[in-house]
Amino acid sequence: MINILAYIAVVIFVGGFICKVWIWSRIPAPLKIVSTPGPITFPGVILRMASEVFLFRSLFRGNKLLWLGGWIFHISFLFIVLRHLRYFFYPVPAWIMGLQTIGIYAGYIILLPLVYLLIRRRTVDRNSYISNPMDYITLILIIVIAFTGILMKQYIRVDLVDVKAFILGFLTLHPTIGPGSVLFLIHFLSVLLLIIYFPFSKLMHAGGIFFSPTRNQRDTAREIRHITPWSNI
Ligand code: HEM
Repeated sequence: MINILAYIAVVIFVGGFICKVWIWSRIPAPLKIVSTPGPITFPGVILRMASEVFLFRSLFRGNKLLWLGGWIFHISFLFIVLRHLRYFFYPVPAWIMGLQTIGIYAGYIILLPLVYLLIRRRTVDRNSYISNPMDYITLILIIVIAFTGILMKQYIRVDLVDVKAFILGFLTLHPTIGPGSVLFLIHFLSVLLLIIYFPFSKLMHAGGIFFSPTRNQRDTAREIRHITPWSNI
């Protein structure tokens, strides 16, 4: 049962993600609205996008505390996911083994920015105003995932051989019954809910950032006269 739900979740996630990106890639961006000073060359655009994706450069300029919270959250999430790759590979590559300890720390650290982001939405008036229930539920869901993960790691152990058999069985299309642990069930189901919701949510900023015309354009407004294809002037 849980395997069927997991397959459905993966199809919705991958299909939904690709669909959204495909739709966005077809939307025309006829105007030069690059935020200045902008890059003039293509490598410059790549550099600008990289600084947004890895360092959240614009956010840094706009709000230092939010930048800190957001950046710590994302980097922790990355290390947690990298640590989890050990369930998906057999044998486990050395570089994944090398990231295990930092992945555990990340599991604890991620709770701080999550709680901060939650409190911020409630306490800053203009943030409350633009927050919908799903924004809170998403944050709470990630808190539940991280919290149940830490409980499994430190206090109520789950049989990791069963976990690995379950994940590898899932990946090789030979599903097995998951480990008999309620915590694991909550952890795993919460992850499934998160990925099902992902393509329909603000979490899609992960793909959407690449389509931001103020960031992905070259600042060639003075060199080239830009005429929209449907302009009849
Ligand atoms: C297919 C998805 C996932 C599976 C099968 C899974 C499974 C597990 C298991 C079995 C543990 C206990 C590790 C141990 O006892 O050593 C754990 C821990 C943990 N999980 Fe997950 N998890 C998944 C996704 C996620 C995601 C998306 C997050 C993101 C927040 C997450 C966050 C954590 C954290 C913070 C811990 C505690 C630290 C650690 O052991 O890494 N998990 N997970």
